[in-house]
Amino acid sequence: MFSTEEIQRAYEKVHDLLITRHIIRTYSTNKQDIRDIALEDSQLSEFKTVLELGCGYGFFVEKLAGRLHENAVIMGIDLVEKNREPFLNSVSASGFKGEFISNDASIIKSMKPSSVDMVVCSYSLYFFSHLIPFIARILKDNGIFIALTHSKHSLEEALSFLPQCMQSIGFEIPGEMMIQRLFSSFSSENGRNKLGRSFGVVEKLKFNNSLVFNLENVDDCIYYLVKKRALIYKEMVDIDNDVVVKLESLLAQRIYALAASQGKISLNKNDAVFRCSQPKRQDG
Ligand SMILES: C[S@@+](CC[C@H](N)C(=O)[O-])C[C@H]1O[C@@H](n2cnc3c(N)ncnc32)[C@H](O)[C@@H]1O
Repeated sequence: MFSTEEIQRAYEKVHDLLITRHIIRTYSTNKQDIRDIALEDSQLSEFKTVLELGCGYGFFVEKLAGRLHENAVIMGIDLVEKNREPFLNSVSASGFKGEFISNDASIIKSMKPSSVDMVVCSYSLYFFSHLIPFIARILKDNGIFIALTHSKHSLEEALSFLPQCMQSIGFEIPGEMMIQRLFSSFSSENGRNKLGRSFGVVEKLKFNNSLVFNLENVDDCIYYLVKKRALIYKEMVDIDNDVVVKLESLLAQRIYALAASQGKISLNKNDAVFRCSQPKRQDG
């Protein structure tokens, strides 16, 4: 769906992800931390090898402090080399040793079977859900796999404006926007089904949430969406930058108009945690 270069372009500005996290925290109606929910009641103190796929700057790792074996090593794999330093900083702030591999998550295919205590995918598995059987393969029998993901309806109040905006600048309306295909490839709705083929136990924890921006904060809503430019306007970014600018301006106008008519704008930000154990070995 997205090439390596497109993913690198989408995530190479590591500080964007930090600002995005700040916006999510500020405007979420659900004030719990999804990472605490993911880790609640988990017995991880014997775990020495942790692998995070699509690790980014280490958002999830921040919450592992004090939870793993004191000699634990946390390895992060991400396509974006610029995540190396922030990820290793997050690991050492958590009190563990770290390793960062700048590569595609598919390198796990060459890893030793039953060699990892815990695998984490925090908002990344929708890029490579075809690797689920390989995640099960590298996990030890008593290991756990934690995946955080979005609903397939994530951000739909804003995304629903896009087809009309595209049409008004002379483009055909696509059947389904690429970002919606991405969210649908591993979502809160289909995650259990996809994971159930590779794990004996799949526990789903819902995280119902909305991002609510009052009229005076609509700028932050626009900023949040525009920072996802490479994913949201995937169909257009390759054509011409002027087209993207036009599209963003139209989208901003629609969002302002909706917020003005309602006094606020609310975006679907329902997420889910999947905790999986009892990996099934499909390749013997
Ligand atoms: C939405 S970000 C999430 C980052 C981090 N896990 C977090 O929760 O903040 C998705 C991350 O997955 C990485 N990614 C996407 N596809 C990948 C792939 N095929 N192999 C490795 N990393 C990938 C991106 O570079 C990006 O850092």
